[in-house]
Amino acid sequence: MSLILIHPAPDALWADARLEGVLRHALAGREVRTLRRAEELDSLRNQTLLFAVPLGELGINLEYIRMLARLRREPSLLEGCTAGLIVDGAGELYTKSAATELALAVNAARCALIGRPLVEGTGSLANFAVQAHNLGTDLAGAYRAAARELADRLEGETFPRRERPNLLALHASSHHTSNTMALWGQVRPQLEDRFSIREIGLRNGTLSDCSGCPYTMCLHFGERGGCFYGGVMSEEVYPAVREADALLLLCPNYNDALSANLTAFINRLTALFRQTRFYDKAVFAIVVSGYSGGDILARQVISAMNMNKSFYLPPRFALMETANRPGEALALPGIQGRLADFARNIRDTLLL
Ligand SMILES: Cc1cc2nc3c(=O)[nH]c(=O)nc-3n(C[C@H](O)[C@H](O)[C@H](O)COP(=O)(O)O)c2cc1C
Repeated sequence: MSLILIHPAPDALWADARLEGVLRHALAGREVRTLRRAEELDSLRNQTLLFAVPLGELGINLEYIRMLARLRREPSLLEGCTAGLIVDGAGELYTKSAATELALAVNAARCALIGRPLVEGTGSLANFAVQAHNLGTDLAGAYRAAARELADRLEGETFPRRERPNLLALHASSHHTSNTMALWGQVRPQLEDRFSIREIGLRNGTLSDCSGCPYTMCLHFGERGGCFYGGVMSEEVYPAVREADALLLLCPNYNDALSANLTAFINRLTALFRQTRFYDKAVFAIVVSGYSGGDILARQVISAMNMNKSFYLPPRFALMETANRPGEALALPGIQGRLADFARNIRDTLLL
């Protein structure tokens, strides 16, 4: 299978030297077509894509920005594609935020992202300290190895389909007044004929946030299928996540962030993640903001669940709506069509 390398030309050529070296190592022996300009992003349907973005010192690459504009303008540009990302910076900041911005745009253009799709090189490469130690190499060696491993996984990845997929919907809202729950209430009946659906409420008081146990202690409890805290997370949520083929997170916007209960759920997933990876499980989200900021929450789900916790991101994984007063979401113009598209997308992703 051939790979398409989308490698926006940097503003200054020296800003690309390190990334060029990493790509040479990662792609050696592979059949690769390289695209360096936004105008070249044509005829990309059903391809395997590796984005490699040199950001330089300031976190800005004008050719990358032109590509971002194209992705946002053309919502079917990457139909049927699967992608991974390498983002290289000259300083300690901006790499992760650029990566989540790109991931959301790529995903909205109907491209899937594999679980853990990002290899990130900060200026110092200090983010590779643990991997370098584990591999017995230096920081640059760990960076090259991670890029190579990403290219290998990208080429080999297939997403499973099922006769009757298990879908786990997680929320932390009141059923009666929540706009987010009202939207889910319309999606659910469009799936019930073919999906086994489980819904779990992570309401106040049922879930303590991660206490940040030392790594070995987290591993110890994780290997026994639990966590230091136990409770609803170990007894109900971990088994449900293990069984699920896909998670659907119901995400009201609280101060431009996921709610505390959902965040606690993601933090507490760490213990389960210590013993298993979630590459074959999808994550979807319904995001509702009162005023603005849905993209911020979608990016939070991408960085936490896809980049960190290894769930794969199906094309157009998130439905993002703006509604404030109770009942407003279901009265939005065109909402029934968007809900039907979202439900169809879940079916198309998971059903045999
Ligand atoms: C604690 C809290 C913080 C909120 N912060 C924001 C915000 O930062 N931006 C925004 O657009 N809406 C914000 N909202 C409004 C909700 O996003 C809005 O009510 C939306 O309909 C989703 O919530 P719901 O599913 O509970 O109805 C906030 C609501 C609450 C309760």
